Amino acid sequence: MTDATGPIGVFDSGYGGLTILKEIRRRLPQYDYLYFGDNARAPYGNRSFEIVYRFTLQAVEYLFARGCRLVILACNTASAKALRTIQQNDLKRIDPSRRVLGVIRPTVEQIGTVSRNGHIGVFGTPGTIISRSYDMEIEKLHPSFVTTGHGCPMWVPLVENGESDKPGADYFVKQEVDLLLKADPMVDTIILACTHYPLLYSKIRQYVPGDISILCQGEIVAESLADYLERHPEIESGCSKGGNAEFLTTEHPGKFADIASLFLEHDITPAQITLE
Ligand code: DGL
Repeated sequence: MTDATGPIGVFDSGYGGLTILKEIRRRLPQYDYLYFGDNARAPYGNRSFEIVYRFTLQAVEYLFARGCRLVILACNTASAKALRTIQQNDLKRIDPSRRVLGVIRPTVEQIGTVSRNGHIGVFGTPGTIISRSYDMEIEKLHPSFVTTGHGCPMWVPLVENGESDKPGADYFVKQEVDLLLKADPMVDTIILACTHYPLLYSKIRQYVPGDISILCQGEIVAESLADYLERHPEIESGCSKGGNAEFLTTEHPGKFADIASLFLEHDITPAQITLE
């Protein structure tokens, strides 16, 4: 345990968490942030439970070693496959005064105010959908809701390769939207349950009928973090307040900087790190 303050860590397998960081910084600009994208090992979406857990734990331990007292898993796949084990088992061993939070719970808390008929569609990576984390969380908070999950294996690679606004992406977006709406034609709310997907938002919107709400997680997670910090002064006081953000990637920093600028709409100077 230490009294030192540190940045808020924000972790994703790659670029997707930047959509969360952007909204968190807009809502809570006073804090320092340390973003970590494990781009060299992304995508996580098709990886096994054990591998996603191991990679995520490594990243969390690294961010703790860099002084973070609070880490946000800005990745649904990591939140689905690693968050609970890290919270329940690993934190005790590493440092019980630190915290790791995910993105699934805050999103599910939100849908009750959006859906009119309780039919929820969830787009996510195959890993997130197979884990059934959304189904279970929705069942807990909104027992009468009907959840239909649909995995989109091509969407993260499209984003990671800077193809999200190119004409080729339309084929893959339309195909998955049609399959979800065929599986449950009554869906009135769709969760983009992968932090990469906001980059495909305008294409998704184009193929989803206008009366269906589409939820992106950035603002939801930012609001939930603001609320969490207000309710937990012991954690809030460990977050340094300089208004800065640093970026780390396991890939080539030049490549990260180029694609990250699509997400953030401003330039950054990332550093490369290696995890053993
Ligand atoms: N951005 C991550 C998520 O929210 C997943 C991307 C990946 O497959 O690595 O699920």
